[in-house]
Amino acid sequence: MQSERPINIEQTVSEYGLADHIAELDEIGLTIVPQSTLRLDDSWFDELRDAILRVGEERTGVHFDLVTGPSCEFGARPGEIGHIILSHMLYEGQVFEKVLTHPVKKALMTHMLGEDHRLAVSDAWIKWQTPETWLEESTTGFHVDQSMVPPPWHWRVPHIANMNWALTDYTREDGALAYVPGSHRKERLPEPGEALPLSVPAEAPRGSLIMFHGGLWHGAYRKTTPGLRVTMLGQHCRSYMLPFQDFKGRVADEMIEASEDPGYLRSLLRENERQLRVDPVEVPGIPGTSVSG
Ligand SMILES: [Fe+2]
Repeated sequence: MQSERPINIEQTVSEYGLADHIAELDEIGLTIVPQSTLRLDDSWFDELRDAILRVGEERTGVHFDLVTGPSCEFGARPGEIGHIILSHMLYEGQVFEKVLTHPVKKALMTHMLGEDHRLAVSDAWIKWQTPETWLEESTTGFHVDQSMVPPPWHWRVPHIANMNWALTDYTREDGALAYVPGSHRKERLPEPGEALPLSVPAEAPRGSLIMFHGGLWHGAYRKTTPGLRVTMLGQHCRSYMLPFQDFKGRVADEMIEASEDPGYLRSLLRENERQLRVDPVEVPGIPGTSVSG
């Protein structure tokens, strides 16, 4: 069963030198953790990137080449942006569990959302050169991730927080995440047209972990370069919210046991909830069937 020990953020913050990142999350609403701080080698990111490209091809039938982009005019019709979102990636292999349980991610997410936060989304993004038919400067409109909770918010207690693993270089030209520093402290949504002039790119080399607050105004810039931007992202939510993608009861014990932090993973997957029935129950009127309640 899951560990009942409280998450000791302070120990990880000290061990990995995360104090400045904690301060940035509070002041700016976003922080970029470099590969050296994560203590991960290139092969870790290669494996993740290649798995995303493989899943993208399996699900769409389109080959995604890092240098040349999609193998066909995929997403170049009028009004299309030039990216694809692949959901429920946690089902696609252990590598997608590793991005959830890395100790630096765990510490920074716990700083924003407290203990017992949940995985809300396990998505990969593959983005290619923005088609000429897309006229906007941003390819993802400015929004906040916690907009399903009406304001007023309190910036110290976000309902949602997000992580983006940059698996290719993130520059403005390469279609980076765009954000408005400090906007989480406004505790409201941006007005139409308000955020773009105030925005800056989250520029980061491949191998970086970008973490940000659910009240931060953000979007993404158009990609003016060929090739791909590949990102693994994961919104997380507090325990009183139902995740957008619910993994409870759907992840094999073998994957959980193979994790370096199975207790935390169970918490992320809602496997530690006490207020819900967890044993299989009969569906009334349908003999022989059962569901996880
Ligand atoms: Fe977002």
